Amino acid sequence: MSFENIIVTAENGIGQITINRPAKLNALNVATIQELHDAFENLESNSDVRVIIITGEGEKAFVAGADISEFASFTIQEGAQLAAQGQELLFNFIENLRKPVIAAVNGFALGGGLELAMACHFRIASDNAKMGLPEVSLGVIPGYGGTQRLPQLIGKGRAMEMIMTAGMVSAEEGFRSGLVNHVVPQSELLDFTRGIASKIMRNSPFAIGRAIKCVNANFKDGVNGFETEIRNFGKCFGTEDFKEGTTAFLEKRKAEFSRK
Ligand code: COA
Repeated sequence: MSFENIIVTAENGIGQITINRPAKLNALNVATIQELHDAFENLESNSDVRVIIITGEGEKAFVAGADISEFASFTIQEGAQLAAQGQELLFNFIENLRKPVIAAVNGFALGGGLELAMACHFRIASDNAKMGLPEVSLGVIPGYGGTQRLPQLIGKGRAMEMIMTAGMVSAEEGFRSGLVNHVVPQSELLDFTRGIASKIMRNSPFAIGRAIKCVNANFKDGVNGFETEIRNFGKCFGTEDFKEGTTAFLEKRKAEFSRK
């Protein structure tokens, strides 16, 4: 599969997607959103890949937002459609993937860029990262899930302030508020992120996929997360992973999980 706006690699169990429009600070145009969807779909079905990392090319930006030049003259209907398609194709799609997706935030993550990072299962930032939802400064609001995921991650009051001021927070501030899990020097960002991916890869892919589903259930309308947990807990008992994990423990050896 060849792409114009992204670079995709798969090595040692880790799929990496790098958004590659550095001259535009990796801004998300519609073509890039489609390519990202295709790349995630592809890595999800690649049984050699267990964890996916997404980052931006260059040292300046993860993603500086949705591509403003594309939507500046949109109508009401076109605006709503842009948000709906983007949410379905990419942001909700990532959140609901069964494989863990980690955002390695290597610089500006603004607007759609922060929304992309927030759709991932968790975030690691380089020390130069700056994050914000500046949409109201453009006369619009976040449209790729930002008004929902930011309060989920940092609480309503802090999210309200960030959205209303259109301001940026530093990596350290993001760490303190729970927006990012770790802050590391930029030169170490990818190695550090791969290290966490390696820890994840020691565990049961089936169980991880179900755990993602259950955690997400807490944030879905009309879904009872506790019931989702009970159902999926039960499903684990029918898997080879469960057999291998418990047998390995009892035999005092490391589990070898092979299935997707
Ligand atoms: N959409 C389209 N193009 C963008 C972009 C975006 N969201 N963010 C940056 N770019 C482009 C700039 O237009 C510029 O292109 P040009 O060289 O062809 O003029 C290029 O990327 C470099 O950006 P520039 O603004 O010159 O860099 P800077 O270091 O001076 O400022 C930012 C960096 C991130 C502060 C600034 O680019 C910015 O505010 N971007 C928009 C952020 C935003 O509002 N995002 C939310 C969109 S909903």
